[in-house]
Amino acid sequence: VKILLIGFGVVGQGFVELLRDKAQELAQRYHLRPVIVGVATRSQGTLFHPEGLNLSHLLDAAAAGGLRQYPDSEGVQRGEDIKTWIQRSEADVLIEASATNLETGQPALDYCMTAFEAEMHVILANKGPIALAYNELRAAAHMVKRVLRFEATVMAGTPSLALALDALAGSTVLEARGILNGTTNYILTQMHQGQPYPEALAEAQRLGYAETDPRGDVEGWDAAGKLLILAATVFETRLTMHDLQVTGITGITTQDIIDAKQAGECYKLIAHITPQGGSVQPVRLPLSDPLASVSNALNALTLKTDVMGDITLIGPGAGRRQTGFALLADLLVIHRTQAAALE
Ligand code: HSE
Repeated sequence: VKILLIGFGVVGQGFVELLRDKAQELAQRYHLRPVIVGVATRSQGTLFHPEGLNLSHLLDAAAAGGLRQYPDSEGVQRGEDIKTWIQRSEADVLIEASATNLETGQPALDYCMTAFEAEMHVILANKGPIALAYNELRAAAHMVKRVLRFEATVMAGTPSLALALDALAGSTVLEARGILNGTTNYILTQMHQGQPYPEALAEAQRLGYAETDPRGDVEGWDAAGKLLILAATVFETRLTMHDLQVTGITGITTQDIIDAKQAGECYKLIAHITPQGGSVQPVRLPLSDPLASVSNALNALTLKTDVMGDITLIGPGAGRRQTGFALLADLLVIHRTQAAALE
């Protein structure tokens, strides 16, 4: 499977690391031999090799400052316009893992459309295009009979979308509620243990939980974007940010945390969505509430369904390998779909 990767930050690197470390297992157990033929970033342009780039060299280059550090061996091509690079690549799958833009979804949305025009499958970790233009993307995929996957966009590699869309198909999800942002959950957990806000945020950034611009996390927009994704995909309802009430954690003071603790409670940033609208807001929960023990970068999601009642999923919601894994899981779904089509 020939792959193009856009974005080589925490998530892209986590994915490449998994491909490198699991190469043997993927080949033996799943008959999957992934080849990264191209990587592109906004600041360092495109890199391409028709036979595949060396994964260790890619990771070394990232650690040394970026794609420009990748060695210039025979066959390596650089510096194309990204759309031309997609069109000429003859790759099977485009993976979009660049920074999320929840206002326009661009430029990722255009890249995904270009990939579908080139009859490629598309996997996203980037939330913008799914939150804002899911129907358009799904129609474009359908036109060329290709697969659109986006597990990484909600709860990283914890299979929230596979649960809601695949495993629970046939049961109607009526509403969803949970903790959908790893950065703020990490910060709140650390603040409850006495760490000041700025230090907890810096640590969340160092651990690779936060977005490129962490304001999106702490002001609640990242969790809100995930609610829009759930609305579009699980409820098949196009909601916008105007349908959500969004409050982040920036207004929570050390004194608020102390007061909550004294009352036997803790703060959690709770996200809630129905087909009509939703909210993201800090809530004080008793320590006996099951969500109170969902700590650090763990996330949780309870789906209220017509047939199955409530189903709750808890697992990592952010992180390098944890989010990279979602891309691998989606790649395996595509690989299985292709294999089944060939049988
Ligand atoms: N910044 C996000 C979070 C990453 O902290 O949850 C995963 O979407």
